[in-house]
Parts: sequence; C-alpha cells; structure tokens
Amino acid sequence: MPDTTKPFETTRVRTLPDLKAELTGLRAGGATVGFVPTMGALHDGHLALVRHAKSLCDKVVVSIFVNPLQFAPTEDLDRYPRDETGDIARLQSVGCDLVYLPTVDVLYPQNFVSRIEMNGPALGLETDFRPQFFSGVATVVSKLFNQVRPDVAVFGEKDFQQLAVVRAMVRDFDMGIDVVGMLTVREADGLALSSRNAYLTPEERAIAPKLHQALEAIRDGRTTIALARAELQNAGFGQIDYIALRDADTLGEITPETKSRRLLAALWLGKTRLIDNLAV
Ligand code: PAJ
Repeated sequence: MPDTTKPFETTRVRTLPDLKAELTGLRAGGATVGFVPTMGALHDGHLALVRHAKSLCDKVVVSIFVNPLQFAPTEDLDRYPRDETGDIARLQSVGCDLVYLPTVDVLYPQNFVSRIEMNGPALGLETDFRPQFFSGVATVVSKLFNQVRPDVAVFGEKDFQQLAVVRAMVRDFDMGIDVVGMLTVREADGLALSSRNAYLTPEERAIAPKLHQALEAIRDGRTTIALARAELQNAGFGQIDYIALRDADTLGEITPETKSRRLLAALWLGKTRLIDNLAV
C-alpha cells in the first residue's frame, strides 16, 4: 500500500550527475517526462505550464536558472527577482516531481565556448532591442533539453517570439521534443503575469493593464497602432520598442500567404520593460 500520509515532495538537484540519477528514477517503467524551463520568481503563469505538463506527461521537471547569456550588460541580471524557497513550495503545490537548480558554473563551465545562432523567427522584434537575447535563450534551452531529454516541453505564449524560436530550433536540430505552447495567464485587469511585474511601483501597476487594453482595441479595430502608441505614451508609458502586427508562424511581415496574425508589443513603464501579444 502506498503511504498516503506522506506529503508529496518535490526533489531538488543542483548538479548534472544528480539530475541524471533522479531522471533515471523518474523514467522507470517507461514514464514520460514533461519539462518547463524557467528563470524562477514563479507566478501562476509558470504554474499553469507545470500543471499542463503534468496533464500531458507522467512526470514533470522544472528548471530554475537565471541565464546570464540572455541578458545584455545593461540589463537586469543582478536585480532579477529570486525566491528559491517560495518557488520550491509553489512547485510542490502543483505536483512538480523534480526541480533542477543549476549554478552558472554547472551550465557554463570555464571551457564553455559554444553559441546557437537563430535566424527566421528570431529576426526583428525583440532582436532589434536585445540583439543577443535569442542566442542566449536558444543556447541555454538546447543545453537544458540535452540534459533533461524530455518528451514534451511547455512554453508560454506570453513570450511568443521565444516560443517560435524554440519550435524552429527543435525542428532544425531534430531534437524530437514536442514543444507545447500555453495561453498567457493574466491578472483580473488583463496585465500578463510576469516576474518583472514585481519591479512596478503602485502607480505603474495601475497603468500597466492599459497595454493589454490597447492591444485588444487594435485587434478589434477600435484604434490603430499609431493612435494606440500615442495613447499609451499619454498614459505614462515610456519608450515603445515596438507594437507590430506580424505573421504568427514566421513572425515576419504579413504576406498573401499569411494564415494567422499576431499583434506583439514591448514597451517601457518606468524602469520595467513589459512585453505582451495577442492573436488577431
Ligand atoms: P521565464 O520568463 O521565467 O518564463 C518561463 C516560462 O514561463 C516561459 O515559457 C514563459 O513564456 C512562461 N510564462 C511567463 N509568463 C507567463 C504567463 N503570464 N502566462 C503563461 N506563461 C508564462 O522565458 C524564460 O523564463 C527564459 O527565457 C527561459 C525559456 C527559461 C530560458 O532561459
């Protein structure tokens, strides 16, 4: 009889040998493994991915690693929110089997010299403002995929361009992983959940949902991108990196072959950069 009085515990590992040993145990009897890579400071958006992975696979592995390769020197690597104890408790509450918390030297030892360079969906949008970003993401995600070797990996549509880049990488390198996208989880007022929302002052937090409202208004034809840009700046947003309507599959410009469209945006509110997107 299984001991049902014993509370479920999420196992945590920090090194590759420990990860491999735990994965062997998880896979016993042919169990399938779902994987959710994260940078921690977990919120209900991340937890929705874990729950979804759990519904698709027998076991779920989550990684928490704030990846220095995807931050430019001017960006928020040092102040990126970290809450390991809270994260583990949250993962436990949704039945995550294994959490992998590698340190920088575990993923990038001194002799680490390789980078994955992505084109196609990685071109434009985020890359215009964060040139090294998708190389950093693709490099760490491919490394994590090789270490965990999941059957399924779940990513959020919140980072729509990232999802497209990961899909392209898995396809191009025959990684044989089923990449599953998950709808964006939002606050009641429409603001997309994000670890970086913790940076917002109360005043900025009150303004932030206007981004989602503006995207909805553009999508519904109630305003234009140009008018929405002006309205957002009047409302208190700072630099608008982009608000763009793109081909949802290629993330390039809309063409006669475009089957579905996506409206994507990135802009600044005080010292916080917000991104969001909507299906059109
Ligand atoms: P992070 O920003 O922690 O996000 C981890 C995963 O959670 C991503 O797939 C992201 O799209 C998803 N996510 C974030 N907010 C969400 C929301 N509101 N609703 C649904 N899903 C959401 O994205 C990264 O980390 C990193 O780039 C990573 C892929 C881990 C590589 O370092």
